[in-house]
Amino acid sequence: MSEKKKIVWLTGASSGIGRSLTKVFLEKGANVAASSRNIELLNRLADGYKNLEGEFLPFQLDVRNSKDVLKLAARLNKDFEIDCLINNAGITKFASADETTIDEVDDIISTNLLGSIYAAKASLPFMKEAGGGTIINIASVAAEKVFKASSVYAASKSGMATFAKVLREEAREDNIRVINIYPGAARTPIWDNEVLEKKSELMMSPDDVAEFIFQIYANKANMIAEEVTLRPITGDL
Ligand SMILES: NC(=O)c1ccc[n+]([C@@H]2O[C@H](COP(=O)([O-])OP(=O)(O)OC[C@H]3O[C@@H](n4cnc5c(N)ncnc54)[C@H](OP(=O)(O)O)[C@@H]3O)[C@@H](O)[C@H]2O)c1
Repeated sequence: MSEKKKIVWLTGASSGIGRSLTKVFLEKGANVAASSRNIELLNRLADGYKNLEGEFLPFQLDVRNSKDVLKLAARLNKDFEIDCLINNAGITKFASADETTIDEVDDIISTNLLGSIYAAKASLPFMKEAGGGTIINIASVAAEKVFKASSVYAASKSGMATFAKVLREEAREDNIRVINIYPGAARTPIWDNEVLEKKSELMMSPDDVAEFIFQIYANKANMIAEEVTLRPITGDL
């Protein structure tokens, strides 16, 4: 049994769902290693987390850089037990396949798909060593249902989810839980302002999404919600 304090490592913590997850997990007493590229923003957010139960540790990390991802996992493992990894960092481009540039393709696949695989691979040996852990992947309903103008994003998210499904079977014997969350539209800056202005009433609140994910994480019964789709009651946009 590890003597180290447990920590939840969350990628893409500076905005949207990641920002809400940070707050909710800290409120519930979890220590959170919050990573994203914009460290200034994470540092500014730190003030608001001061009085919450858990400890907030901000880290600059671009998940596209595999070496940096491995380095951060090792650094966290020195002082903490990585109890949970939340692969949340993600980007999109609402454009047809034809209109999406090769640079945009590289960016979306490197961030959403490769970044999540790097972080899972970086955490796995430490989770195994500690006797277990949880990996939560924030995929998307676009991995399950066809929406036009999101082919590369859908490819990245279905790749992420399928990687995780295989990992889940491999990691069961190490007491590692692998959970895929497929959110529908949530009110975050991933959407253009114009869409937010017109449709935000129909979108889920990122705080509600974060609360629900915390409940799934916190359920330590001998069962697991492996594949979870979250949609606004009114359905997809
Ligand atoms: N909002 C929705 O409707 C919705 C629906 C389904 C799924 N999702 C998924 O939910 C996750 C969070 O999205 P969101 O809606 O909260 O979007 P968001 O507000 O734009 O936040 C995205 C987060 O990802 C981080 N990020 C982007 N590229 C990164 C990189 N290369 N390395 C590290 N961090 C990076 C950003 O931080 P930095 O810029 O500081 O790096 C930011 O914190 C994404 O995976 C998204 O695909 C969202």
